[in-house]
Amino acid sequence: MSTRDLGVSYGDFLAVNGVNLNFIRHEITALIGPSGCGKSTVLRCLNRMNDLVPGARVHGTVEYHGIDVYDSSVDVIELRRRVGMVFQKPNPFPKSIYENVAYGPKVTGMKPESMDDVVEKALRSAALWDEVKDKLKQNATGLSGGQQQRLCIARAIATGPDVILMDEPCSALDPIATAKIEDLMVELSEKFTIIIVTHNMQQAARVSHRTAFFTAEADEKGNRLGKLVEFDGTEQLFSNPADPRTEAYISGRFG
Ligand SMILES: Nc1ncnc2c1ncn2[C@@H]1O[C@H](COP(=O)(O)OP(=O)(O)OP(=O)(O)O)[C@@H](O)[C@H]1O
Ligand SMILES: [Mg+2]
Repeated sequence: MSTRDLGVSYGDFLAVNGVNLNFIRHEITALIGPSGCGKSTVLRCLNRMNDLVPGARVHGTVEYHGIDVYDSSVDVIELRRRVGMVFQKPNPFPKSIYENVAYGPKVTGMKPESMDDVVEKALRSAALWDEVKDKLKQNATGLSGGQQQRLCIARAIATGPDVILMDEPCSALDPIATAKIEDLMVELSEKFTIIIVTHNMQQAARVSHRTAFFTAEADEKGNRLGKLVEFDGTEQLFSNPADPRTEAYISGRFG
């Protein structure tokens, strides 16, 4: 998956522009940078979630397996089945644990031989099966925050994606639940390409293979325009950043 000269406007406001990223299969890519620099905006372009935001307009291209995802022939439901998403706040549906995982396969018209197997496999992949296997009929809202977030990961996995987008998936979790999700991400990267937005630089350094640093700079009219400053291997970016703005941010002098 990749972006070329990607930009997004909300109405007249150009929020982010000129983003060129190439996501490597089965790697974790972290998007970092100060608040408002356009990380979530860029992430949402990758499975066309911005289509749902009134006034949002996307420029440039996003390619997925060589296909322009903004081409009019693209089936958006199918795209989101293949490029799944996990949000900041765990957002399970107020349904049973089982129904949460089976939901995606059902609404996208998948006809698996056994839905039970699909549900079990997704919950196992999300490292949640052992904790919930005896209460699949219980309401998902009764789970802890960390369990709910792993359920949301299972829900994303159940539709058979190859890319998983995560927007600050641990920001509502305690350190133990966070560590579990981080371990899970590393495990999942064997099978999936993962793109994660995080404010936690230690987290980016711990789990990601590559890191993209964004910032927002005011133009002459005072509009804050988000841009990609630097994109490199995580070790390289954190130990020897090429741009002084990256260096200022990761050393805590800015943002
Ligand atoms: N729905 C929207 N309508 C109008 N402007 C928006 C909308 N969503 C985001 N923006 C603006 O676009 C810019 C980028 O926002 P975005 O949410 O992508 O930043 P971010 O890097 O994810 O920030 P944070 O770290 O706080 O989540 C900001 O100036 C924001 O105010
Ligand atoms: Mg955001």
